[in-house]
Amino acid sequence: MGIRLDGAVAIITGGGGAIGGAQARLLGASGASVVVADVDLTKAEAVAADVRAAGGLAIACTLDVRDGDRWAAVVGVAEGAFGPVTALANNAGANVRVSFDEQTEQMWDLIVGTILTGSFLGIKAVVPSMRRAGGGTIVNLGSIASTRAGAMSPAYGAAKTGLVGLTRSAALSYATDGIRCLLVSPGHVDTPFLRANTDYSPNDATTSLDEPANYASRVASTPMGRLMTPDDVARAVRFAFSAEAAAFTGSSLVVDGGAAM
Ligand SMILES: NC(=O)c1ccc[n+]([C@@H]2O[C@H](COP(=O)([O-])OP(=O)(O)OC[C@H]3O[C@@H](n4cnc5c(N)ncnc54)[C@H](O)[C@@H]3O)[C@@H](O)[C@H]2O)c1
Repeated sequence: MGIRLDGAVAIITGGGGAIGGAQARLLGASGASVVVADVDLTKAEAVAADVRAAGGLAIACTLDVRDGDRWAAVVGVAEGAFGPVTALANNAGANVRVSFDEQTEQMWDLIVGTILTGSFLGIKAVVPSMRRAGGGTIVNLGSIASTRAGAMSPAYGAAKTGLVGLTRSAALSYATDGIRCLLVSPGHVDTPFLRANTDYSPNDATTSLDEPANYASRVASTPMGRLMTPDDVARAVRFAFSAEAAAFTGSSLVVDGGAAM
């Protein structure tokens, strides 16, 4: 039997996506009650239905993580459905993979707003609920870009590096409340984030994993010789939320097959 999270109440942002969806399914199967929150309600509903079909407890709700008022409503919905929140995973992300010269203020606002401001607003929103619960755990989703500068998309590097500081700041601020905060940093994960052409993460032939050369180059830069899967990341997040990780706070779990070495 794997790690259990019975009694946990988790909000998973970007929960309709690949990495957030894998977390929702694994947490639900591990005994947690799950609020699947995403800007795309249709995708969130589908993931919540998967959790319920497997015998778990889940509801879906709309959340743009950049909207502080909406955050308060989502925490209220979670408390009403399942009780005080004990776990938050800030997965929602955005990226526009262009050079520093080409990156616009609008792209910066989208990327930093979703990743960094969105995670900040999420922490602010759940802490009172976690205090009512007697403690909790927050996971922010980092990246290789949390520790290594890339030539492309300065906003993504700034936001993912910023999460290192935000994670430590929250960990320090709330340690005596029994609230832990960790960064989980995936390497190259095969998801729509790197394949599809979405508003929040546009890809074309120069970037998409659909192009064999792009796929091969990400595999080549991963010492273990394979891309990560959403389930690889979900298992690390479940560990972070569990009693097994009771002494971890402010730290990073890197799930990258060695790519950031
Ligand atoms: N795929 C990778 O290789 C990789 C590597 C490192 C880190 N990450 C991070 O993992 C996280 C999840 O990405 P994924 O790979 O599962 O991608 P994905 O595209 O499958 O999922 C992203 C989800 O976030 C949602 N979303 C976008 N903007 C939002 C907003 N403003 N508010 C709420 N939801 C929003 C989307 O609707 C989507 O469901 C991101 O933070 C990304 O930066 C991904």
